[in-house]
Amino acid sequence: MCGIVGYVGAKEKKEILLDGLKELEYRGYDSAGIAVIEGNNLNSFKAVGKLENLVQKAKDFKADSFGVSIGHTRWATHGKPNELNAHPHLGKNSYVVHNGIIENYQELKKELIAKGVNFLSQTDTEVIVHLFEQNALDKEPFDAFKSTIDRLDGAYATLLITQGAPDTLFFAKNGSPMLIGFDGEDIYFASSDTAIIGKAKEVYYLEDGEYGYAKDGKVELFDANGKKSFTTKPLSSDKVSAQKDGYRFFMEKEIYEQTTVIADTMMGRVLESEIVLDELDSDFFDGINAIKICACGTSYHSALAASYLFERLAKVRCDVEIASEFRYKKPLLSDDTLFVTISQSGETADTLEALKMAKRAGLKSLSICNVDNSSIVRESDVALLTRAGIEKGVASTKAFATQTMLLWILALYVAQERQSISKDLIANEIDAMRHSPKVLKVTDELHAKMHRLSKRYLHGHGFFFIGRDIFFPLALEGALKLKEISYLHAEGYPAGEMKHGPIALADSNLFTVALMPKSLLYDKIKSNVEELSARDATILAISPLAFDLADDFVQTKYASHPMLEFFEMMVVTQLLALEISVRLGNDVDMPRNLAKSVTVE
Ligand code: F6R
Repeated sequence: MCGIVGYVGAKEKKEILLDGLKELEYRGYDSAGIAVIEGNNLNSFKAVGKLENLVQKAKDFKADSFGVSIGHTRWATHGKPNELNAHPHLGKNSYVVHNGIIENYQELKKELIAKGVNFLSQTDTEVIVHLFEQNALDKEPFDAFKSTIDRLDGAYATLLITQGAPDTLFFAKNGSPMLIGFDGEDIYFASSDTAIIGKAKEVYYLEDGEYGYAKDGKVELFDANGKKSFTTKPLSSDKVSAQKDGYRFFMEKEIYEQTTVIADTMMGRVLESEIVLDELDSDFFDGINAIKICACGTSYHSALAASYLFERLAKVRCDVEIASEFRYKKPLLSDDTLFVTISQSGETADTLEALKMAKRAGLKSLSICNVDNSSIVRESDVALLTRAGIEKGVASTKAFATQTMLLWILALYVAQERQSISKDLIANEIDAMRHSPKVLKVTDELHAKMHRLSKRYLHGHGFFFIGRDIFFPLALEGALKLKEISYLHAEGYPAGEMKHGPIALADSNLFTVALMPKSLLYDKIKSNVEELSARDATILAISPLAFDLADDFVQTKYASHPMLEFFEMMVVTQLLALEISVRLGNDVDMPRNLAKSVTVE
């Protein structure tokens, strides 16, 4: 949610900033902008929409003498996505970029307006630059910056440059991610290390409450206790950037990749006859009597599926909460509970804050995450990495598959350690796990079928995705995928609940995608679908068993284990969403109003 970059040095700045922003564009693509100060020269460019628009706008600009520079890619929180609201925000002679939300901006804005300051944007961010300039009227620039951040409530990662100190870049972090990269005299700032890989050789991940400045090839760092020293870590120089490799969209490629990345998730963990999790000490689960999982969006759906597995296999009580709900409910927590967070990005603000709350309450924490060194990974006692590789499509696919697989592995690991199920059952689960990559393979036949079917599902007054047990979270996920990239209304529902209200919507324009696995509660879901069919709902049934009442039918192949059916049906729903979105002419990889990493609450 918003990406920021900064650079201090003598290299050509425009390319460094644009390169970094390209890597961060997944965090928001409502607008982008850069600002550069080189001695007396102050330049900035902003453009609405994707980064490419900024690239065009700034194409004749070059900045290759010593100076300071900042850049930003925006996901709008306050104010429409227009040029005035795009960052960097200019005061009189200073620029600021910011990721986060300044909660007391209205109060600060009022105060500044009373002093005669003129605001150009509707953003919360603009107060930072004006407050700084007011403070700088009677203070040295660094003191003015410090007084500014002392007044800010909320979450921020912010960079500020000013003609008052043209060789200095000021920074502060609280709640939103930011890191500093080093290569000799060159100093880089970014929301995530992907933006500086290949440029910086060493990195320091800032902690909340840290601030300071970069000048003369050095960084001075401070926190509430004053000046502090810090140690950097080497940064890998391998730039692993994702390419579409001949696919039309990243999302399409990522759906196809699931068959291989799931094998990576299992590698070294799912052995022939046992589960090994090297990351966990043998006594890790000692004293744990319950598991609480917190996550958002798609990751929340994998958590819901996992809750069935933890109770069924590991026989451990498991409850799941949406992180943004958990944060404010004053939850009762007991220290025999393992607190699990799930996150693709490792930066989701609500999930991160939930984790911090649980830690403050003394709970042991474990995260399931796709990005090593992310805030959630660093904050957790133990992290299990999903190994999905870079996920570029904003609508998550392979991250969901790998999260669910890893949670299944974790549940079975606990079952094995606690001997909560028989050896035969464990062997059966392992056998199913080892078949999963095959199940996730997309065949030409299936893709062609989903392409054909998608034509029938472009209108109507809504979709219900229905399922029972672990297929209920999958129904939620199928509906979310469709909503995100088709902009059609879709709801996931527990099939048995339809008759308690939603069935009132049933008519031929209500499209129902029914997940009907053979290996789990088939007769129950069948009755639920029959009830809908009797009321003329249009039914798309996904099942290994032929179903006469379906208007459309996708026959699945793997019926030997519920999780295999889960993964196969997951692919079908992903392809359905993809093909509907393509037919509607939508931007599949960067759907409107969304961002890949949600670093504001
Ligand atoms: C949906 C999607 C989002 C994320 C959610 C949490 O396709 O990607 O719902 O799942 O924003 O993000 P992470 O997993 O990065 O914490």
